[in-house]
Amino acid sequence: MNNKMLCDIGFIGLGVMGNNLALNLADNGYKVACFDLDNQKIEQLETMDQQQRGEGEQRIFGCSSYTQLLDSLSKPNLLMVSVPAGNAVDHVCEHLIAADIKADDIVIDTGNSLWTDTIEREIKYRPHFIFFSTAVSGGEVGARFGPSLMPSGDPYAWTRVAPVLQAIAAKVDPESGRPIERFEPGNPVLEGEPCAAYIGASGAGHYVKMVHNGIEYADMQLICESYHILRSGLKLSPMEIADIFEQWNCGLLDSYLMDISIEVLRQQDPITAAPLVDMILDTAGQKGTGLWTAVSALQMGSPAQSITQAVFARSISSLKEERLVASGLLSGPQIPEYSAQQRAKIIAELHDALYCSKICAYAQGFQLMSIASKDKGWNLDFAAIAKIWRAGCIIRAVFLQDISRAYGSDGKLQNLLLDPYFSQQITKFQLSWRKSIASATLMGIPHPAMSSALAYYDSYRCAVLPANLLQAQRDFFGAHTFSRTDRDKDEKYHLDWSANPRVMHKVS
Ligand code: 6PG
Repeated sequence: MNNKMLCDIGFIGLGVMGNNLALNLADNGYKVACFDLDNQKIEQLETMDQQQRGEGEQRIFGCSSYTQLLDSLSKPNLLMVSVPAGNAVDHVCEHLIAADIKADDIVIDTGNSLWTDTIEREIKYRPHFIFFSTAVSGGEVGARFGPSLMPSGDPYAWTRVAPVLQAIAAKVDPESGRPIERFEPGNPVLEGEPCAAYIGASGAGHYVKMVHNGIEYADMQLICESYHILRSGLKLSPMEIADIFEQWNCGLLDSYLMDISIEVLRQQDPITAAPLVDMILDTAGQKGTGLWTAVSALQMGSPAQSITQAVFARSISSLKEERLVASGLLSGPQIPEYSAQQRAKIIAELHDALYCSKICAYAQGFQLMSIASKDKGWNLDFAAIAKIWRAGCIIRAVFLQDISRAYGSDGKLQNLLLDPYFSQQITKFQLSWRKSIASATLMGIPHPAMSSALAYYDSYRCAVLPANLLQAQRDFFGAHTFSRTDRDKDEKYHLDWSANPRVMHKVS
């Protein structure tokens, strides 16, 4: 590139996400100096920029080394990194140090990094530069035309990077809470509320993104379970299921994940002309963020059973060979032939079951963030988080407007289920939810996320759980002690179960 020309932002890592984030920055008027180990990717990006800009000024400039990249930027440097989570992030940071990056330069990690790695990196690189992060959701289209961004780290760095991140983020119509979607290269959406809010101290943004993905796993699994019940239980075709989902998508269940499911179900296989979904092998992949959410929920003692079940559902799907053998050996119920009236009832109940389960999956995710926020002192703003998830991200849905309203009207809300609107909604729909789960159980169709969502709801609203018996069992075999209902809960008792007569001791 021309040495006299100084760019606003340096971009490292031109995979699908990086390429599109760089083009998004360029659309928003920033001059971007780009570097990737693969020279071809740099050339392709420059060509794309030239094609889009036409006679207009060039905004993407390729660099052939880290040193050239740093020399190309106006000072202090602002760099964005889009490389796979893990060691690749540290490789980039080490190269930047070797290229003489300065202490007040900012490096923003935009990948799906593990939140604990982000905290460690912020400390590790502090003497060399400011390590900041912004988690990005929205896939390749989001990255290109407006993702949802979850920035966190040094508050001073946020003041410097906020205008950039807010410019490239998705925008929401503040009145309706709906995304302002315009997918036009070179013509960014300038009006509306940006889906980029400062989440908190280092690691907080990646934690919130991780939970976003955990919720994404549960939401996807719930839609898949509904599809399974309609496909295998009612023997509907993918087209018929798409029509049902389309009706549902006009109301409470209106979401991006429903939009794409409808499109998928209507897609014909270009090779066989059969519905494409019937030709796709039923083994799910996973990159790890759902697993991280489940692990964190277990570690924090936060009940997130639908998210965890969604991870397990992917695990059992990948045991294809074993399932094929088991399907010939293990029996299940015979699925009856349903009348038209029964089918209509099952479909209507399934709608309500999907909605109630979805509320529970989101309640679990927000509860997990709330427990983590207290534990780490992040002071997360849940209304703001729900707001930045209304557009750009994979779980964007009309429903998030209701969630942001719930946390906006009660900042101390302990659980989404306790919000008057959501508790009323579940009261209204729960009989259908229960019937739907009963029908699926009688059909022998697995619905782990949906039934665990109901278990979460029923456990949460239960004043007395059978943990009293469990505590007695623990005390019996391991002298683990128990608290009494008629004494202070911090007083611990042990019954000498082997003595005759059995004697109660106050242990502490
Ligand atoms: C997003 C997505 C994105 C990615 C997931 C896929 O918010 O844009 O969540 O982060 O598509 O990592 O995760 P799995 O491969 O684990 O399904």
